Amino acid sequence: MKGIRIQGGMPLQGKVRIQGSKNAALPILAATLLTNEVSYIQNCPRIEDVHRFVHLLRELGCMVHWQENGIRVQPGGRDDLPCERAEARRMRGEAITGMRSSLCLLGALLGKCGYVTMEHPGGCVIGDRPIDLHIHALEQMGVEFLEEDGLLSARAKNLHGAQITLKFPSVGATENILLAAVKATGDTVITGAAREPEVIALCEFLTACGASIEGMGSPELIIHGGGDLHGTRYTVPTDRIVAGTYLFGCIGCGGSVHQAPWSQMEAVTVAAERMGAQCTVSEEGLFVQAPVRPKSIGHLQTGPYPEFPTDLQSAAMAVLTMAEGISYIEENIFENRFRIAEPLNLMGAQIVLKDGQHAVITGVEHLHGEQMDACELRGGAALVLAGLAAEGESFVTGQHFIERGYENICRDFRELGARITSV
Ligand code: UD1
Repeated sequence: MKGIRIQGGMPLQGKVRIQGSKNAALPILAATLLTNEVSYIQNCPRIEDVHRFVHLLRELGCMVHWQENGIRVQPGGRDDLPCERAEARRMRGEAITGMRSSLCLLGALLGKCGYVTMEHPGGCVIGDRPIDLHIHALEQMGVEFLEEDGLLSARAKNLHGAQITLKFPSVGATENILLAAVKATGDTVITGAAREPEVIALCEFLTACGASIEGMGSPELIIHGGGDLHGTRYTVPTDRIVAGTYLFGCIGCGGSVHQAPWSQMEAVTVAAERMGAQCTVSEEGLFVQAPVRPKSIGHLQTGPYPEFPTDLQSAAMAVLTMAEGISYIEENIFENRFRIAEPLNLMGAQIVLKDGQHAVITGVEHLHGEQMDACELRGGAALVLAGLAAEGESFVTGQHFIERGYENICRDFRELGARITSV
């Protein structure tokens, strides 16, 4: 059987290179469609989600090549080519779909040529993931939607700027509005925008292409639309979620590690320090000195940036199973993000789920190795962390979920001294 074999209990020590950010790279790749010129996206992670996105861009008529340190995208010459290709796929019963992250093609293709049909991207293992905020905002910009047979069609005769207030700072909705607004006529103001570093990265890329955006990193973005965009060269920032995963791995196993990008990880380093780690920032990134045994954290709650990220909640939970004392986790972003509680309990953890949003974790001294099945990306990585810290051997199946977001989690933890192999 294919999976990840882990011999637990090795202290982790050393340096690891952190890959480029998945959640920044994907909307930026979508944004390359908005120009007719070549863009170079450097530091793109070589992960499954990016490979699938590259495949989609090729299907839409772009020439996409991997280069030594990134991706070269040459969009098709005509503005309506990608939409025409998307339409042809639809006629063949292959509407743009597959992954939630292809949702950013909605804003990009509307910005490019004003129409798109895609499979409804809702529903996945970490909850329903509605898209009402995307739809409502784009409707305000003149887009008409039609839902039929699981397909979502969007068309804008006159894509125009609007005053949009998001009732929740959705990352994906903010990105879709940005992608459409830079090409719309007039100004768009987004109030209640997401402030995630990945949204800032998209704004930086669009600005480098010639777009005019004010308020980057703040909850109010002003986009002066309608200008011509040109190709550019952009370096994707390093992945704060991957860095956080490795940071929590080190707390679970003892030992220390150099990390990056610390400036986007304040809530994470604060949580790590409450667990007993010492985090020191230097030119090389973040140095983590882990405690012999982690401490309980009291109450940990996830929230929109700059609060603690939902994508690291599972990793924190894996560590807290071995902490001294009782911890409480409140998941405020996605339901169904406690699926790893069951396999962790099989390893000897004591996690009680109060409901889909609240978990109580009574720390135990040791976990023991088990066979586990990863059934989603971040939860899968957290099971690897538990295996690294447990006594004895663990085996994690469902590796392809982890490969959606981690270039090579086994190689990286081996760099840090772990005994872990993909078999
Ligand atoms: C992005 C990230 C994901 C991360 C999440 C929150 C990508 C590819 N994915 O996902 O890794 O966990 O941000 O940081 O970048 N919501 C609605 N209606 C909508 C849109 C969202 O109710 O139209 C709700 C969602 O159900 C969820 C919350 O808003 O409860 C946050 O979702 P959102 O910020 O949109 O996350 P994504 O962009 O899907």
